[in-house]
Amino acid sequence: MADVVIRQATIEDAEQIFEIENMCFPDPWSLESIEYEFEENPRAFYVVAEHSGEVVGYAGLWWIEDEGHITNVAVKPGYRNRRIGEGIIDVLLDYTIHEGIRHHTLEVRRSNEPAINLYEKFGFQVEGVRKGYYQHNGEDALIMWRHASDEEIAEAIRMMEDRFTILAIESSCDETAAAVVRGGRTVLSNVISSQIDIHKAYGGVVPEIASRHHLDNINHVVRQALEEAGQAAGSEEPMTMDDIDAIAVTYGPGLVGALLIGLATAKAYALATGKPLIGVHHIQGHISANYIEHPDLEPPFMALIVSGGHTNIVEVTDYNECHVLGGTRDDAAGEAYDKVARVLGLGYPGGPLIDRIAKEGNPDAVEFKRVFLEKDSMDFSFSGIKTGVLNYVNSEKQAGREIHVADVAASFQQAVLDVIVKKTVDAARKMNKDKIVMAGGVSANSHLREMMESECKKHGIKLYYPSPILCTDNAAMIGCAAHYKYRAGGSDDLTLDAIPGLPL
Ligand code: KG4
Ligand code: ZN
Repeated sequence: MADVVIRQATIEDAEQIFEIENMCFPDPWSLESIEYEFEENPRAFYVVAEHSGEVVGYAGLWWIEDEGHITNVAVKPGYRNRRIGEGIIDVLLDYTIHEGIRHHTLEVRRSNEPAINLYEKFGFQVEGVRKGYYQHNGEDALIMWRHASDEEIAEAIRMMEDRFTILAIESSCDETAAAVVRGGRTVLSNVISSQIDIHKAYGGVVPEIASRHHLDNINHVVRQALEEAGQAAGSEEPMTMDDIDAIAVTYGPGLVGALLIGLATAKAYALATGKPLIGVHHIQGHISANYIEHPDLEPPFMALIVSGGHTNIVEVTDYNECHVLGGTRDDAAGEAYDKVARVLGLGYPGGPLIDRIAKEGNPDAVEFKRVFLEKDSMDFSFSGIKTGVLNYVNSEKQAGREIHVADVAASFQQAVLDVIVKKTVDAARKMNKDKIVMAGGVSANSHLREMMESECKKHGIKLYYPSPILCTDNAAMIGCAAHYKYRAGGSDDLTLDAIPGLPL
């Protein structure tokens, strides 16, 4: 019937269910016992068929681990033979299989052939008899069972994963961030409270100040993330912890005091709600930002991580498996950008400022040394070039010459990026990877993207990078990484500690 709606039942439906119960069964349930099902029995689940605001059929079950014991199926007289019973059973099975019920069972009168036929159509089979079960006439009950197929279970798991909703928290450096991520790659909210303006005055992140601001901001940021997620999920109400399946948090690497604020918050939510806690490696988060940006991206690939704290070439073989092939032996790429920007008097953070001003400069104006280290090494060293820029600036000043900041910035950037791009593309080719994924704050750099695009094109490699908001620190990427960690069985207990130097 086209104008019949089948939906989950509520206590408001109890009276109408009771009426139908009375019409259909010689030994009906009382209204109190039906109301009890809704109010007191957490294992009861009911659906109703509604026609023009009137309940015309219903079915209920009791949920016992992975078994669903169907208690009643009834259609109001006058509405029979309209496939309403079929509709109700279909929805009941569909819904409960997707919630993890694998085996369904019910009892039916031996003489009720239409019902037996209907259940058989849905895959129920008679597996036993309960002699003299019906008290009023002593009739036997047939016990029927239905066992979900492997395909149904696989589909149910897929659906559950698509709905799995994580609240993620990130506070490893100078952004206080919280996000709600559904199904791994759907971002329902991504709130970032940046402290950049505060740390600007000091030319860099001051750890104690960062911790204090995280503490001031964290509750507000989490609340806002839940609020926006509610809207994104189509509700006028903010999400509550009831809508959240797990809590994810960055536990390293980063500033220990900063990490601890996010971690303590996440643990408090996990303790109060009993929901799983998932600790995430910050760099795993940066890599995962790409899964959000590119829904089709899957491992394996080669990853370049370039941030304020890291410069790594990483072979990613699976969602939770990677091998670090190389890293910086001194400064991280972003750190070099920030330090050089300071030498050039550009301000903080230096990366975006150098990115911008370098566009107006000549990258061949000053020859800075490209440090490739030993042959085939995938490691980096950027402290030399930082000193190189400092020496250049000092000697020019001493000689009384004016410094052309855009030229120096462009030349510095070219020297750094020549090395990064060559080493990353070489690594991908050597390890037979046809995809390169960039992550971390520096991957927002426009010249890095251009150079990488053109080198990748030359070698038939596909290039991926996130949009700028997902390049720098955020919690959506942490939620995404947590999803894949949890899917592989990884969760943590409340002893999880912040590890400032957490290795990948
Ligand atoms: O990933 P991120 O937000 O924080 C860390 O985990 O370190 O990276 C911050 C770094 C800073 O050093 C910043 O200067 C650099 O990323 N950065 C950039 C650009 N945008 C941010 N570096 C170069 N070009 C950019 N456009
Ligand atoms: Zn980062």
